[in-house]
Amino acid sequence: MKYTKISDNHIKDFINILGDINVLYNDQSIDLYSKDQTEDLIFPPEVVLKPSVTQDVSRILSYCNDNCIPVTACGARTGLSGGSLPVFGGVALSLEKFNSIIEIDERNLQATVEPGVINQDFRNAVESKNLFYPPDPASKGSSFLGGNVSENAGGPKALKYGVTKDYVLNLEVVLASGEVIWTGANVLKNATGYNLTQLLIGSEGTLGVITKIVFKLISLPKKDITILVPFNSSENACSAVSAVFRAGITPSALEFIERDAIDWAIKFTDVSIEIKNETKAHLLIEVDGESIEELYLDCEKISSVMQEFNCGDILLADNQSQKDRIWKLRRSIGEAVKLNSIYKEEDTVVPRAELPKLLSGVKEIGTKYGFSSVCYGHAGDGNLHINIIKGSMSDEKWENDLEYGIREIFKLTKNLGGTISGEHGIGFVQKKYMDIAFSSKAISLQKEIKKVFDPKHILNPGKIFL
Ligand code: LAC
Ligand code: ZN
Repeated sequence: MKYTKISDNHIKDFINILGDINVLYNDQSIDLYSKDQTEDLIFPPEVVLKPSVTQDVSRILSYCNDNCIPVTACGARTGLSGGSLPVFGGVALSLEKFNSIIEIDERNLQATVEPGVINQDFRNAVESKNLFYPPDPASKGSSFLGGNVSENAGGPKALKYGVTKDYVLNLEVVLASGEVIWTGANVLKNATGYNLTQLLIGSEGTLGVITKIVFKLISLPKKDITILVPFNSSENACSAVSAVFRAGITPSALEFIERDAIDWAIKFTDVSIEIKNETKAHLLIEVDGESIEELYLDCEKISSVMQEFNCGDILLADNQSQKDRIWKLRRSIGEAVKLNSIYKEEDTVVPRAELPKLLSGVKEIGTKYGFSSVCYGHAGDGNLHINIIKGSMSDEKWENDLEYGIREIFKLTKNLGGTISGEHGIGFVQKKYMDIAFSSKAISLQKEIKKVFDPKHILNPGKIFL
């Protein structure tokens, strides 16, 4: 696709639409919009536009469509697959000014928000009304709800409550042509036509720009308890995961953390917990519900399951500051890994009982290719984040051979009944592996859908597909 480079005339036209304060170019502030949280990738946009109303997004898209200028929507740029990187330059369309919670409808347990609202700000707002928005990606303190929808973000609570897609009822979307549509209706059941809402969720800004989101909410669980369970064997920890569900318990979170991951997070956060030398991994488990007595009973049942897999001494956190410390550790692992080494993060997901095979397979593949890995993630969902650590691997091997190792990891994932991304998306960095997840027919169907929405390929080009 041949795109038009942005000229002074285009800049004048953008200023006419948005006012000069909302048009950034030739200026260092543009650097921020060249990056997200994916490795160390940098792709500068030619201009950053900051609209604050749907009508201006519509005018920008219609103009860029007419002029063949690529447009990459971005939010807080916390993504982990390069979804918001403007890899063809052009416009970075920042939704940061779309930051209002339009309505919290307590009668219907729904809320309408703009995409630039921070996940945690939204949770706080609904929790003050005793309502609950469960999706809680590790980035919840900074990531925007629009980005969460675009990547179909998950997080620990997805285990019991589902991921972002399970809470979106309706979306206002600006199409590449500039036309504005609503994808669904503000209802809990909807059997009306194709499900455009779900098609847009996780489409990473390639089909349209989301300007309003209607979420379903649920009532806020009153109590929770967190336990941290050490194991001398990572395989045992992984094997214990599916046994918890077989025992009839659905925790509100069940996370797996390898030893290096927790050590690095301790260094990064200065949260200290005592860990024995022989500990190789932890399971971090949360149960929630209405009565604390029931939760203690659940914890007892979970403890006996854990003991069947030779766990060590279990740490039980039932006061808020202990719980906060442990969850702070867990949520900072991604950043801690980033500081420790050059790395690549994979977001594999398998049926949960296959986790032990996935983990041991990853280690074998690492030995074959000469890399180490640090694994952690949402084990209850079978979602394992595999951080491949460069360590002493030569630059040449890192650049040339690693891709084959990653292909082997993804093929193993697929053979175990899983797929190549659970919650981080395909974006820029995983697109070369889509052939492992889908047949060529399934990929070409998706490309045809893209063409219908965006015939000139102006929306976030260079993503999802090669
Ligand atoms: C986490 C992010 C990396 O689970 O998804 O910490
Ligand atoms: Zn995660």
